[in-house]
Amino acid sequence: MPTVQIADAQAVTRALAHATTAASHAPSIHNTQPWRWRARGDHLELFLDESRSLAVSDPDHRLAILSCGAALHHALVSLAADGRHATVTRLPDKAEPTHLATVCADAGIPVEASAIRHLQTIALRHTDRRPVQSAAIDAQKLGSIAAAAESQNTSLHVLRPRQIFDLASATDRAQKIESEDEAWQAEMNYWTGDDRTLGTGIPDTIVAREASQTTEPGREFGHPGKMAIADTHHRTAVFAILYGPGDDDLDWLRAGEALSAAWLKATELGLSVVPLSATIEVTATREAVRQLLSGLGHPYLVLRFGLTDADTAGPPASPRLPVERTVLQL
Ligand SMILES: Cc1cc2nc3c(=O)[nH]c(=O)nc-3n(C[C@H](O)[C@H](O)[C@H](O)COP(=O)(O)O)c2cc1C
Repeated sequence: MPTVQIADAQAVTRALAHATTAASHAPSIHNTQPWRWRARGDHLELFLDESRSLAVSDPDHRLAILSCGAALHHALVSLAADGRHATVTRLPDKAEPTHLATVCADAGIPVEASAIRHLQTIALRHTDRRPVQSAAIDAQKLGSIAAAAESQNTSLHVLRPRQIFDLASATDRAQKIESEDEAWQAEMNYWTGDDRTLGTGIPDTIVAREASQTTEPGREFGHPGKMAIADTHHRTAVFAILYGPGDDDLDWLRAGEALSAAWLKATELGLSVVPLSATIEVTATREAVRQLLSGLGHPYLVLRFGLTDADTAGPPASPRLPVERTVLQL
């Protein structure tokens, strides 16, 4: 092989390795990281790893596939920052539904400043569950975040104040149904609590010490954590529903890509994001959330947006699996 081709093949291999590392930072339900990559020559194959999906809360793998979509978007951001055009084939093999995407790194392309910025944002993004700041969120910022979701064929519906009460009531109902189920409790205990030294799940350091007494929709993790939070709420949090046209695996994958695009944009604009999935996990409350969309489409995830507290360090980062556990080199 001519030297130039060898150098390009090596650059592609390096870009694919960077992409899977970037993907490991993606958000996932309960930090399950339910993805597995296979690196082969100039392409990456993305699989759903069912051993890290939630049999009780997410039996149809909707939220696991959404999480894989976020990892896919993170990988594409990294390839763009490495100056690689990528061709993506989503759900390439009907006979193998866990094969979610194939990403082929093709020609070199000029690197845009925005691609570098998005890559840097991947390292900064995290779930900040603290109460939001008192200042209201600029409508223009919400418009930019919605446009980022829209770029991935998924939409964002911002709830009106009255609808937030309906959402809070659906959230309470979902959490009651889930917490009365012993299998759900066992699953939650498996994925949350303690120090999470194996690299998955949600450590106690980022779970609130006491359940919130506010009327805002939130998330119960089934046990108290160690994070001290003020029990204030400023009514400035914005709640929105990520939604789209269908309820197929492809729709949930695209929803994950949209979650990543919207979250990176929000982080760049100084906003925190907390996904709230309890209402989506329970069929009856997913239907209640669908009604809040008044026929616009299928709900994928509820998101809370707020202004971040720029003066204090956010909660510690949650752990990640070593890359060797999620990437197979062929
Ligand atoms: C599909 C999905 C559902 C999630 N649901 C919740 C939730 O209900 N409550 C919550 O506090 N965080 C939720 N999260 C955030 C994850 O817990 C978080 O992404 C994961 O623990 C990794 O932490 P990081 O985002 O700080 O990297 C969800 C994330 C995803 C992708």
